Amino acid sequence: MIYLNNAATSYPKPKEVQDAVLATFNGPLVHASRTGLEREDDDIIYLCRSRLADLFNIDDPLQIVFTSGSTEALNLAIKGLPLEGSNVVISAIEHNSVIRPVKTLEKEGKISVSIVKCDKNGYIEPQQFAEAIRDDTRAVIVNHCSNVTGVVLDIKEIAKIAHAAGAYIIVDASQSAGAVPINCSDWEIDMLAFTGHKSLFGMQGIGGLYVRKGIDLKPLKVGGTGVLSEILLQPEGFPIHYEAGTLNTPGIVSLYAGVQFILQTGLDKIIEHKRKLYEILFNELGDNPDIEIYSPLKHTSYSNFCFNVKGMVPEEVGYVLEVSFDIWVRTGLHCAPLILPFLGVEPWGTVRASHSYFTTEEEIYKFTEAVKKITTIPKRK
Ligand SMILES: Cc1ncc(COP(=O)(O)O)c(C=O)c1O
Repeated sequence: MIYLNNAATSYPKPKEVQDAVLATFNGPLVHASRTGLEREDDDIIYLCRSRLADLFNIDDPLQIVFTSGSTEALNLAIKGLPLEGSNVVISAIEHNSVIRPVKTLEKEGKISVSIVKCDKNGYIEPQQFAEAIRDDTRAVIVNHCSNVTGVVLDIKEIAKIAHAAGAYIIVDASQSAGAVPINCSDWEIDMLAFTGHKSLFGMQGIGGLYVRKGIDLKPLKVGGTGVLSEILLQPEGFPIHYEAGTLNTPGIVSLYAGVQFILQTGLDKIIEHKRKLYEILFNELGDNPDIEIYSPLKHTSYSNFCFNVKGMVPEEVGYVLEVSFDIWVRTGLHCAPLILPFLGVEPWGTVRASHSYFTTEEEIYKFTEAVKKITTIPKRK
């Protein structure tokens, strides 16, 4: 099997991640943080926050809250802020994990939502956010990297624009975390949502939200914390105020090992490998008149190759790739319906091939040869 669906979930995971998760079965999963000693150096929960803080340049690791993934992190950010009566700006490249929470609040009459348009690759100039912001805009929520085309936005500039208007900047880093440099301190990000199972090489069901110090956020859930049990309300302070219930320790262990792998390998090396594969994809398929490509040559994570074969719906291409060539891609709308009209791909969406650090050049050539063969299939009139 050639796996090119890493934007959905990464496979394979580094050996270090597999070993670390297996080792969690070797003893009871009780940890220091639940005895109030999270700063201990051998506490895997704190170590994981700490490595994430290194990767995202966050000053205080305890400002990172663990969640089940980006979806929960984004729900926490969006529902936790006092946004009632305000306007929220999002973009056309958002995933449903942003669109649905804000659209639900809009339907309940609590907020209004403005959507910033993108170009035919998904790119949005920072200035377009300035034009969309209104006097009552209190938050700009933006996807750092499109899960459809792989386009990457200039978060530092967008954050400056949001702050100049007195709005929070909330970043969906689901696709960019572990794939593109992220600098929460320098870019002055207010909240950053990430998920563990994509380019961070962790398991499904773990992710988190970084929250800048001083932001008043309501928790999504309250309950047991393992410490301060005598208090009848959720204990204050980060991260405990937001982490009710037993944490997903195996997930956190996997995330720690995944982030360690990235830091030890070097993000630059990972990006360079993917850039080389991206170059092959464009060299082999870029000029093919039977293929429409939606991924950009610049402002890119080099991780997604988003395309259609002219005269075929994406599902047909995905089916042939899987059944005839044993190549796994993703087809359809990719949970990002707002981008469709800008790419000109309504109603069927696109085919997305997403490689990883573990994808080989040979696999990419097999994929491009398969796509070339598919373009020769006689089309329906
Ligand atoms: C851009 C983007 N945002 C949010 C999510 C949601 O992540 P999760 O399902 O891990 O919560 C995804 C996952 O596909 C994504 O690609």
